[in-house]
Amino acid sequence: MKNIINTIFNEDVLKGIYKIPDRSLDLIIADPPYCLGKDYGNNSDKMSPNEYLKWSYLWIDAVIPKMKETGNFYIFLTWKYSPEIFSYIKQKLIMINEIIWDRKVPSMGGSTRSFTSVHDTIGFFAKTKKYFFDLDAVRIPYDQETKKARTRSIFVGKKWLEIGYNPKDLWSIARIHAQAPEREKHPTQKPLELIDRMVLSSSPEGGLVFDPFMGSGTTAISCINNNRKFVGFELNPNYCKLIQNRISKIKKANL
Ligand SMILES: C[S@@+](CC[C@H](N)C(=O)[O-])C[C@H]1O[C@@H](n2cnc3c(N)ncnc32)[C@H](O)[C@@H]1O
Repeated sequence: MKNIINTIFNEDVLKGIYKIPDRSLDLIIADPPYCLGKDYGNNSDKMSPNEYLKWSYLWIDAVIPKMKETGNFYIFLTWKYSPEIFSYIKQKLIMINEIIWDRKVPSMGGSTRSFTSVHDTIGFFAKTKKYFFDLDAVRIPYDQETKKARTRSIFVGKKWLEIGYNPKDLWSIARIHAQAPEREKHPTQKPLELIDRMVLSSSPEGGLVFDPFMGSGTTAISCINNNRKFVGFELNPNYCKLIQNRISKIKKANL
């Protein structure tokens, strides 16, 4: 177990998953290719819809036994394949939430034969009813004005008013702009704020978080910042180097 902690394997997750011990993971954050034909320097996003669904079921089956009894599983998808994939996972895990990530895409042009799609669909699943969940770690504090407006006696002293509200299942977090300091050279890098919310609410401090599709390593960075351990896989060797650079930078900044 020791030799996998804080490791990124440059390998196909389906080939390397045996390295992860059964029932060892507190949290899985899976952000697979979406079957959109993106270029990740490999063919992973070039499958037909049927191949994509078959492949999705294969890796899902491979990672579920690695979860602890208290473990959680988040999966990023698009609306196109989430119905089939959610139905599949629901046969194996308890579905806790469907989260809509509103990428806060500015209103410009867009589709002319459909409504412009501006969200990703995230499934939040747990292995058992004993799943770890720390809402207090991700509450959103009220601003002074709103707090003041809630002065009716029935609200006074309410925990949620003092320590903030539940982020709910619609997460409006801007995608990373090309000029943003957080931006790395990866086509589908997720914002840290988004991954932080999963890591903080759904894994204990010191826990082990698994990312089968590391990409630019956002999960690893969130784990370092939030005192969790990580392990993951990434097919593209250049992305693996990018992740190592990102980790070195963050470690230097934290010195
Ligand atoms: C959607 S991106 C992940 C982005 C990541 N969440 C981030 O914030 O940067 C998916 C990544 O999975 C990688 N990948 C695709 N198939 C894989 C496989 N079978 N095993 C490991 N990595 C894979 C791709 O190279 C790509 O970088």
